[in-house]
Amino acid sequence: MQHFINLDDVSSQALNHIIDQAIVLKKQHQAGEINETLKNKTLAMIFDKSSTRTRVSFEAGMAQLGGHALFLSNRDIQLGRGEPTTDTAIVISSMVDLIMLRVSSHEMINTFASSGSVPVINALSDESHPCQLLADMMTYKEHKGAIQGKTVAWVGDGNNMCHTYMQAAKAFGFTLNIATPVNYEPDQAFINHYQDHITLFDNAEQACHNADLLVTDVWASMGQEEEQSKREIAFKAFQVTQALMNNLKSDAVFMHCLPAHRGEEVSAEVIDGTQSLVWQEAENRLHVQKSLLLYLFQASKTDE
Ligand code: CP
Ligand code: NVA
Repeated sequence: MQHFINLDDVSSQALNHIIDQAIVLKKQHQAGEINETLKNKTLAMIFDKSSTRTRVSFEAGMAQLGGHALFLSNRDIQLGRGEPTTDTAIVISSMVDLIMLRVSSHEMINTFASSGSVPVINALSDESHPCQLLADMMTYKEHKGAIQGKTVAWVGDGNNMCHTYMQAAKAFGFTLNIATPVNYEPDQAFINHYQDHITLFDNAEQACHNADLLVTDVWASMGQEEEQSKREIAFKAFQVTQALMNNLKSDAVFMHCLPAHRGEEVSAEVIDGTQSLVWQEAENRLHVQKSLLLYLFQASKTDE
């Protein structure tokens, strides 16, 4: 069974295939071509956290491929009232063709994969957000070409997105400079595992020197709302401003997975400026996840 729980669940070759296929699917969609490869297929989408992009892109993507997506909020299904994860996984996977989860617990996603009988997609956990990285890498490729050999600067929190950039550095062959405040570094297990591909900084300017791409994310992720004011103080020197962007190469670009807070992690001038690719990046969630769905269905069929 082929799952997509972390970027390294699939080979670099497969990741590049998913991105290249997404670029083709995007052109076909824009040309009005119909592709109903997933006709009569159902995707269950389990959410215990908010979402705009992830929900809309998976739901619209399944509809465009001729299939159906089922939105299941933790507030409405028995999982939220204590039904065991394993029981839920067995039951839901007996009725649908694929399960996507956006939940706090990364472990819960692993349990769905080990207990269920269909492919499982991680649509954000406290540990990683691999679907977003597919969109980011697709966007870079469309606008700037191959990312292999380039330098990417991550500025901000050592969070789930930062972890996934660490995985991407290895999978796509780029150097990752990570600038975080002290005590907000990525998880030590990730640092150990990806040490050959990353350099840690406690200074944003140094991490950005000569970089090709700058990426940031919110200072307080979902579930950390009560830390907001403490984090605003700790991250003050890590705001992405035009002055910080000026440390990068002159043709460098800016990305942010969104939602963004202008005036906190990024200035309006940068996110709404000419180097920003955030809208292209958000739209590409649709195209690249359609490609991912097709890849997982195909790979799991081949496994049978
Ligand atoms: N970037 C992202 O995953 O957005 P949502 O939280 O809106 O799904
Ligand atoms: N780090 C953010 C990403 C949101 C898409 C969060 O987990 O809330």
